[in-house]
Amino acid sequence: MSNGFKASKVTDNVYWVGAVDWNVRDFHGYATHTGTTYNAFLVTADKVTLIDTVKKPFKEEMFARIRSVVDPGAIDYVISNHSEMDHSGSLPETIDRVRPEKVFASVMGAQALRDHFHMNGEIVAVGDGGRIDLGNTSITCYETRMLHWPDSMFSYLAGEKLLFSQDAFGMHLASYERFDDELDESVLEHEAAKYFANILTLYSKQILKLLEKVPELGIDIDMIAPDHGPIWRSNHGRILELYRRWAERRPTNKAVVVYDTMWGSTDLMARAIGDGLAEAGTHVRIMKLRAVHRSDIATELLDAGALVAGSPTLNNTVFPTLADALVYCKGLRFTGLVGAAFGSYGWSGGAVKQLEELLRGMNVEIVSEGLQVKYVPDGEALERCRELGRAIADRLKRLPNP
Ligand code: FEO
Repeated sequence: MSNGFKASKVTDNVYWVGAVDWNVRDFHGYATHTGTTYNAFLVTADKVTLIDTVKKPFKEEMFARIRSVVDPGAIDYVISNHSEMDHSGSLPETIDRVRPEKVFASVMGAQALRDHFHMNGEIVAVGDGGRIDLGNTSITCYETRMLHWPDSMFSYLAGEKLLFSQDAFGMHLASYERFDDELDESVLEHEAAKYFANILTLYSKQILKLLEKVPELGIDIDMIAPDHGPIWRSNHGRILELYRRWAERRPTNKAVVVYDTMWGSTDLMARAIGDGLAEAGTHVRIMKLRAVHRSDIATELLDAGALVAGSPTLNNTVFPTLADALVYCKGLRFTGLVGAAFGSYGWSGGAVKQLEELLRGMNVEIVSEGLQVKYVPDGEALERCRELGRAIADRLKRLPNP
């Protein structure tokens, strides 16, 4: 079937044969505002090799792009760098259609693919540093456990000095542009930061170890080709530098005020706390849930030093949006945050105490006891909110890194 999709040339012997998902807006809980890409790559070496596949509904797009370069039946090898289904979903059908000579994955990847697809055929497990001979060139595979899953690995194509990095160094950005130099730097940095914050923050230690290991591998890298978003062609050093900075987790003099409100009282408190923080020289983001997405809060927390959480009491507990956002951010394990809880109540209260527990569960250092206001804050209550903001700003200034 010809549907007009064409491959994009990456180098003389490498083609992008992935798919663009313009319409996905929720990627397992992460808001993908523009959509994303599932990148797959075709290496036209003596042994024609496909690196990764695409999410299952996009398989015909991938096959059409492959067909614009070679007959898919010409593919000798398939390498699966990551078994998550946005990259492996089309693998079983690819194997059925192409009948490749060999399918390669990491040791854990081979098992993960069997567990996902209950395949009968053999998957060749490649050890860390294992080399796959393609005839006129070769690919070396490196385990990158937890970047993003235990099975993940990088593949390095020696002749082209090209590192296929699966999820690492990627971003959820749907576009016609395939290379970093075709996109605005601020867009690249924002989308890469959002991806790191929401997918990789909890693996920061493993990322730092990997960044230390890369120079020791003795490989010369000209380009990095991730499985989402653009290929780092002109400045891959920039994304390596950003990953180091994000993984080192250096909180700055920035506070994120996350809250929800029923009749506007907690909203007034959030703004007064923000005023106190700003007056004391802290950068502030005021983020009302139901107006922003949890994944945008995670992005703001990537370089923040403070998390201030506010909720009215609803049915004796926190507003559900707060539970959603804080449980999500807890899982991402942002470290080194200070903060406090606040909120309004009508009669029994309870939300602020529970918010404090949620913050403590995230290892947030509580700067000041939770601030509660009955029904609607008056001038004196709003001044206490500003004081809380100033106290958090003062604590931020005394942190090692703000
Ligand atoms: Fe893009 Fe972890 O899959």
